[in-house]
Amino acid sequence: MSRTYNIAVIPGDGTGPEVIAEGVKVLNAISGKAGFKLNLNYFDFGGERYLKTGETLPDGAIDELGKYDAMYLGAIGHPDVKPGILEKGILLRLRFELDQYINLRPVKLYPGVECPLRDKGPEHIDFVVVRENTEGLYAGAGGVLKKGTPDEVAVQESINTRKGVERCIRFAFEYCRKRGKMNKLTLCGKTNVLTFAFDLWERTFYEVAKEYPDIKPDYAHVDAITMWFVKNPEWFDVIVTDNMFGDIITDLGAMIQGGMGIAAGGNINPHGVSMFEPIGGSAPKYKGKNMINPLAAICAGGLMLEHLGEIKSGREIEDAVKLVTAKHIKSLAAGQMGLTTSEVGDLVAKYVTE
Ligand code: IPM
Ligand code: MN
Repeated sequence: MSRTYNIAVIPGDGTGPEVIAEGVKVLNAISGKAGFKLNLNYFDFGGERYLKTGETLPDGAIDELGKYDAMYLGAIGHPDVKPGILEKGILLRLRFELDQYINLRPVKLYPGVECPLRDKGPEHIDFVVVRENTEGLYAGAGGVLKKGTPDEVAVQESINTRKGVERCIRFAFEYCRKRGKMNKLTLCGKTNVLTFAFDLWERTFYEVAKEYPDIKPDYAHVDAITMWFVKNPEWFDVIVTDNMFGDIITDLGAMIQGGMGIAAGGNINPHGVSMFEPIGGSAPKYKGKNMINPLAAICAGGLMLEHLGEIKSGREIEDAVKLVTAKHIKSLAAGQMGLTTSEVGDLVAKYVTE
């Protein structure tokens, strides 16, 4: 067999393993048909391992993961572990140390999916957020003084480098051109208040824009964009923004596309190994109940195949998901699908092989 891909699978915590199992079911179904092979290697990083060993990522893990063609992640987050430890120790470390500097998050309403916006349908909601993924407020710059006293001082700074901003903006212009939908790229910022950081973003954006005369550069403040997502989502094609704003607006994006049950994303290093994940959390209360929606994980698997160059198979997964949302699934919410987690996976796997 000519095309073989080595995939590092991190099912993670909570419902992560259940949704990843359905994603793997679909990936295996389509690989047989399309004639490529996936070698899956599983890693047990997550809350359970941390509680047993005190270790988030073991020594050498980053180097080892860096050798794979892609990574497929379920969810990280455990109710018995203090917030921040697993997020910073696993998820953010992987993003940073593997230099996955783009977080690519499509926001697309599929047919049959209930949208909380009155009068909006699949023809109105189809855009992609390119979120910077290694800098900004997430870089961890800052510190605390006199902790726990009335004089406590906490500083958390946003780091924006010309290099980091420019490579993200360039990726977004290229992506927008390749997508070929509206040829419009919107910078989402806050130039009226964050006059250092977003001045750098804005100058870089319009400089790079000169190299892309076929793409219309556009700008929106982050507060206004949350309003437009609700009022006029059809205005957007590709949006580029910093790490924190990207985090916030993509949760809103997930809601207008029907919920966390369908929202998928990719942490991309265009020159290294990229990691694909459903963007919702580990949903511990649904763990082991066969109730959680696996479509986001399945869609993340589709994004991974597209990234690996298996474009046709990636699209076929999306088409199969559309059939399931249009014909079978009652609601995207856990426990209200009218189907179990594994039944949803079975249906997508059936459609991709038909
Ligand atoms: C996301 C998540 C993460 C983030 C958390 C879990 C650290 O919310 O992928 O959007 O803030 O990036
Ligand atoms: Mn988030």
